[in-house]
Amino acid sequence: MTKMERVTKKAKQESGGLGIDFEGEKAPGKKPTLTTGGQPAFFSCWDIHAYYGESYIVQGVNFDVREGEIVALLGRNGAGKTSTLRTIARTENPALRRGEIWLDHKPVHEMAAHEAAQSGIGLVPEDRRIIQGLTVEENLKLAQIAPPHGWSLERIYDLFPRLGERRTQEGTTLSGGEQQMLSIGRALARDIKLLLLDEPYEGLAPVIVKEIERTLEEIKGLGMTTIIVEQNAIAALHLADRAIILDMGQIVFDGVSQEVLDDADLRQQYLAI
Ligand SMILES: Nc1ncnc2c1ncn2[C@@H]1O[C@H](COP(=O)(O)OP(=O)(O)OP(=O)(O)O)[C@@H](O)[C@H]1O
Ligand SMILES: [Mg+2]
Repeated sequence: MTKMERVTKKAKQESGGLGIDFEGEKAPGKKPTLTTGGQPAFFSCWDIHAYYGESYIVQGVNFDVREGEIVALLGRNGAGKTSTLRTIARTENPALRRGEIWLDHKPVHEMAAHEAAQSGIGLVPEDRRIIQGLTVEENLKLAQIAPPHGWSLERIYDLFPRLGERRTQEGTTLSGGEQQMLSIGRALARDIKLLLLDEPYEGLAPVIVKEIERTLEEIKGLGMTTIIVEQNAIAALHLADRAIILDMGQIVFDGVSQEVLDDADLRQQYLAI
């Protein structure tokens, strides 16, 4: 059985009902956490605080993500969404000064960015970071330079046929939508456990957004645990099981996506939609 099949099977086994309990004991950190069936959450941020220099941006963020769950992380411009994703990926900035981050029992808060990546955090940044001078295929192969490997190139091309068609084209000459696909493909080429998407639909035509949405649905069907940040909150809410809303670096809502879709006042107050 492949890794993804195992993840899928496990996610399916665990997805019988929401089963969210509040339990005082959490395996490694002994912190209260949302759990599924008495198990520690697959991913959790515990009271994380992060700074750009002396600018205090991520101000005590706490949340759990179950294996196979998709969470939409929403909030207005400057709410701290990108900073939260960057903190989780352990990029140098913002610097995590307090709190814990756990992924599949591993202490991500103790890791540098490359270690977090090796442990399964896959950040697809807003600017997509396609490497200049390399073809589509070389960009993907570079992601697989060090084990553990994730999806094969063939599998990535099955998910994104456009990438297969353009495998010999220089990555930076792709359209915006294709670059987004390449950026997601590059994350999947590694053996990731948590996919972090920062504004995957940004700047893309509606027809391309639809295409990327379809692939994210497919990835979701395979049981990939995902956090998606998106200005297109409605699209993200339709994809996600749960929504977390940030405001000024703090969580102001954590609940099922449908609640946000149904609550016009909440959307107006924190999302301005
Ligand atoms: N490199 C940086 N140095 C200093 N402050 C920063 C830096 N990057 C972001 N900030 C500040 O951190 C706060 C949160 O920014 P962040 O980019 O995380 O917000 P966001 O929710 O992703 O917003 P957007 O929807 O505009 O992408 C903002 O006040 C921003 O000005
Ligand atoms: Mg942002």
